[in-house]
Amino acid sequence: MLKISIADEDRVFVLTGAGISAESGLPTFRASDGLWAGHRIEDVCTPEAWERNPGLVWEFYSARRAQGAMAEPNPAHFALADLERRLGTRFFLCTQNVDDLHERAGSVRLVHMHGELAKSRCGAECGEVPVADRTVYESLSAVGRCKCGARLRPHIVFFGEIPLEMGRIQAEIDKASLMVVVGTSGSVYPAANFVHWARQHGARTVYVGPEKPLNASAFTHVVEGKAGEVLPGLFA
Ligand SMILES: NC(=O)c1ccc[n+]([C@@H]2O[C@H](COP(=O)([O-])OP(=O)(O)OC[C@H]3O[C@@H](n4cnc5c(N)ncnc54)[C@H](O)[C@@H]3O)[C@@H](O)[C@H]2O)c1
Ligand SMILES: [Zn+2]
Repeated sequence: MLKISIADEDRVFVLTGAGISAESGLPTFRASDGLWAGHRIEDVCTPEAWERNPGLVWEFYSARRAQGAMAEPNPAHFALADLERRLGTRFFLCTQNVDDLHERAGSVRLVHMHGELAKSRCGAECGEVPVADRTVYESLSAVGRCKCGARLRPHIVFFGEIPLEMGRIQAEIDKASLMVVVGTSGSVYPAANFVHWARQHGARTVYVGPEKPLNASAFTHVVEGKAGEVLPGLFA
């Protein structure tokens, strides 16, 4: 099996997607039926869905919170936390996932570019910072209000919204000499472009997942396998 050597001068940027949490029992969506936990994305994960039916959006994300709380990190999450302990500030993790399995495995230098299940924020974007919130809401009337009076919304980047922390992500990609991408179908932008940005300055790029992503041709290596089986032995 491929071993990736990491030299003292290397800087590693890791991008993860829903696939890394699949072995923890959290469903991906594109790999199976194109639905996320039985829902069409347009019905639960867009600004229009929030506008039209906030009750359904909260029902969906409450269910994701309940499911996330039952899940445990798997060997892939732990392998990345181990790598961070070895590399320190030469390691950076960007996840598209909204679950908290990376931090529960011990990752620290990470950003959630698509938001976090365990937080809520002002539905009117009044400028208040997101608040910790793991509540599984039984009804829309139970959902709290921001100081400004607007209903709280999940701290999730809906499809069509701009991902979080793009400046920091871009800066980390610019510094990276090795990019490792795990468990993402390569169909959600801008994340699917990160590999191209890394290639522009000559970084090595490796994909890990059971099937080739849509952007497979941009990688120097594609390792076909499950993240929990491949990652623990990947880094020499
Ligand atoms: N756990 C979560 O937080 C979660 C779950 C579902 C969707 N989402 C959201 O939906 C979007 C989904 O896009 P995406 O590209 O991340 O996911 P996706 O559902 O489009 O693709 C999942 C990818 O994971 C791969 N995969 C399946 N099992 C795997 C395994 N054991 N090891 C490694 N890879 C595996 C599949 O081959 C597929 O390419 C993201 O923006 C994310 O925010 C998040
Ligand atoms: Zn507000």
